[in-house]
Amino acid sequence: MLSRQPKVTRRQFIQTAIATGLGSAVPQPSSATNSATGSWQLEAVEISRRFEPQQPAPAKLLGFNGSTPGPVLRIPQNRVSEINVINSLPEPTAVHWHGLRIDNAMDGVPGMTQDAIAPGGSFRYLLNPPDAGTYWYHSHHRSWQQLARGLAGILIVEEPQAQGFDLDLVFAVDDWRLDDDLQLDEKSFGSLHDWAHGGRLGNYLTVNGQTLPEFQVISGQRIRLRVVNIANARVMTLRFPQGPIWEIAKDGQPVSPRLIEDQTVTLAPAQRIDLVLDLTADPGSLNSVEVLVRDQVLEVADFRYHQSERQAVQGDEPLPLPANPLHLIDLAARQDYLTVPMKLEGGAMGRMSEAIYQGETLGVRELARQGQVWAINGFAGMTEQPLFRVQRGTPISIEINNNNAWPHGIHVHGHHFQDGREPGVWRDTALLNRGEKTSLRFVADNPGQWLIHCHMLEHQVAGMKTWFEVT
Ligand code: C2O
Ligand code: CU
Repeated sequence: MLSRQPKVTRRQFIQTAIATGLGSAVPQPSSATNSATGSWQLEAVEISRRFEPQQPAPAKLLGFNGSTPGPVLRIPQNRVSEINVINSLPEPTAVHWHGLRIDNAMDGVPGMTQDAIAPGGSFRYLLNPPDAGTYWYHSHHRSWQQLARGLAGILIVEEPQAQGFDLDLVFAVDDWRLDDDLQLDEKSFGSLHDWAHGGRLGNYLTVNGQTLPEFQVISGQRIRLRVVNIANARVMTLRFPQGPIWEIAKDGQPVSPRLIEDQTVTLAPAQRIDLVLDLTADPGSLNSVEVLVRDQVLEVADFRYHQSERQAVQGDEPLPLPANPLHLIDLAARQDYLTVPMKLEGGAMGRMSEAIYQGETLGVRELARQGQVWAINGFAGMTEQPLFRVQRGTPISIEINNNNAWPHGIHVHGHHFQDGREPGVWRDTALLNRGEKTSLRFVADNPGQWLIHCHMLEHQVAGMKTWFEVT
């Protein structure tokens, strides 16, 4: 359970924040823009930082360029950006650019597309993203640990023209598991109980790495809010009280603007949604964004409204974002789908009795001893043969059956798909609740070897992963 509310009251927190010089206008992670040369440096480092000003000792975390989340990378569409990742950690790492349809060699998956970057080493990623939108980057080496420690950041591929919002804000929500001294709970890393249940659920929420940040906004503004769930395993249901709000993109890809009547958004780990918010509240008001967890309502961030001279926004429907090349693919016109069944099994209260792990059929007890508690089509973990191997251009329909007691967020690398439950919407991560079935349809048009896995990272390490190849 998410039991811990921040121990400081909002007033205390704000006063301390101002006293310590953290009271910037909008609590945004620092951004690294270097459009002059198109090159960036990202250094993976150990950091220590306090979640709350009065905590006795800072927590030991991981980050990029000194912070968690790392800097917001803003890179151009259809141009090559060079990102040199330097590993200053005492352990290997690698960086995956979640949701980008880029060259396989740049996908950042150790053992598949590259060797892990050794301590002291570096890797030069060349990213040439075809689609604008909201993405993110994160470690793909022991990600269940490295993400829980903070090794992630937001990646924005900018549209060729500015979209005319008054503000363009990142809202990266995370879920940490901390002990009473607000130190990372290290003892529970590798807990088979977590792995077989809902993953490493935390007890402490942050937005852009901060505890209950206050966004300073101006009444009458229209803002773009890029909401990203960077938690290891928690499905986040967020409620935005100030309205009206529209969705304009999901998992980076534009959708036709739709008014969200209940002000509520649900994101599986790794999913994103771009919102347009009209800030209609009066100057002086304070509105909170809340996370709904079962019967709890937790405040995670506030918007404080300031006065302006200008006219209030009219509240008319926002224009759609410009289409990406992905939108040219007409899935409905394709008849010749290769159907690929994908049965998700295992976990606590599941009915799995055995699975094949590293070529051997093992009973559940033996599997558990090896840290494997999930399987796809009867196989736990990576297999020698891919789930499917097809020629470039083949339309694929992955028929997922979530035949177990848990929700899963299934992520396909290198491609976006359309979920049968959401026709017309392109995603890279699909949330399936217990017992749900759906089809994920896409054209396998990006050559190389690609992962498919659950983005609840404890499920991934405990067997829920596979791969496919496009030749
Ligand atoms: Cu966001 Cu394979 O990961
Ligand atoms: Cu899962």
